[in-house]
Amino acid sequence: MLNCSVLTMDQKMKAHTLQYDPIVEELVNLSNEVVDEKLKKRVEGIIDLRYQRDVYGTEFNTPASPALQEILHSTLTENWDSLLQNHELTNRCSPHMVSGLWAGQILKILVSMQSARRVLEIGMFTGYGALSMAEALPQDGELVTCDMQPYLEKMARKHFDKSPHGKKITIKIAPALETMAELAKEGKQFDLVFVDADKAGYIGYFKFILDNNLLAPRGTIAFDNVYWSGNPYIVEPGKYEVMREFNNCIKNDPRVYQVLLPVRDGIALVRRKEDVEYNN
Ligand SMILES: C[S@@+](CC[C@H](N)C(=O)[O-])C[C@H]1O[C@@H](n2cnc3c(N)ncnc32)[C@H](O)[C@@H]1O
Repeated sequence: MLNCSVLTMDQKMKAHTLQYDPIVEELVNLSNEVVDEKLKKRVEGIIDLRYQRDVYGTEFNTPASPALQEILHSTLTENWDSLLQNHELTNRCSPHMVSGLWAGQILKILVSMQSARRVLEIGMFTGYGALSMAEALPQDGELVTCDMQPYLEKMARKHFDKSPHGKKITIKIAPALETMAELAKEGKQFDLVFVDADKAGYIGYFKFILDNNLLAPRGTIAFDNVYWSGNPYIVEPGKYEVMREFNNCIKNDPRVYQVLLPVRDGIALVRRKEDVEYNN
C-alpha cells in the first residue's frame, strides 16, 4: 500500500480508494524513482491530495445504511483466495469488484430520480449495488439481480435478510443472458438496468436490453467500469479492445443518448434518444 502521510488506512477504506487509478499508479512510480527527499515528499503530497478528495466527498455523502456497511466490511475482509481454493467459488473474486459507497449512492439516487419500481442488475457479487438500489424502491418495488456463482447468492442473501429492503430482491444464478432471456419471455420491463458483469459481455447485454424491450419506456441503463482502469484510452488500439469497443458501440448506436460519468472507474448512463431530446 502507499506510504501516504496524511490519511489513515481506515480513512482510505472509507473512501474505498482501493480502485485502481492509472494517475495514482504513475505518481507512485514517480515517487519510487525520485531520490531527492523534498521532491519525493511533494509527489507523495499529490497522491494524498487525490485521497483527500475522496475522503472529503465521502464525508459529505449521506452515510450508507448499517446493512450496506456490513456488506462492504465483509467483502473487504473475506478470504477470497481460500474460497476459490476450497472450490466454493468457481471463478476468482476480489474485494475491488464491489461497487461501494460512491457507485452505490449514485445508483440509489438514480432509482429515486427515475421513480423506478422495477430494477435489473447484471452482476451481483456480494450485493452492495443491489441493496443500495433496493433501499430506494417503494415497498412493492422489485429488483432482480443475477450472478453465476451460487456461493455469492448465499452470502448476499444473508445480508439482504437483515435489511427490511431485502425482500424486494430476487436473485437468479445463471449466465446473465439466460436470465435476461427468461425475463424478456415473461414480458418483464425495467425502469433502471445496472450492468456490472463480465466486460466482454457488455455489447451483448446492451443490444439484448434494447432489442428485447427489457428497458421500460423512459428507462435508464447504467454501465459500470466504462473507463476500465484507463484501458480504453491508455492501451494502444488493437490491444485489449473490450471496453473501447463497448464505448464505441453506444456512441455509434443512433437509438441512444449517453454520458460517461468520471466517478470511480467510470459509469455510463444511457437512455433512448427520444427520452432525452424532444423533437418539438
Ligand atoms: C464487478 S462484480 C459486480 C459488483 C456488484 N454489482 C456490486 O454492486 O458490488 C461482477 C460480478 O459479475 C458476475 N458475472 C460475471 N460474468 C457473469 C455472467 N456472464 N453472468 C452473470 N454474472 C456474471 C461475477 O461473478 C461477479 O460477481
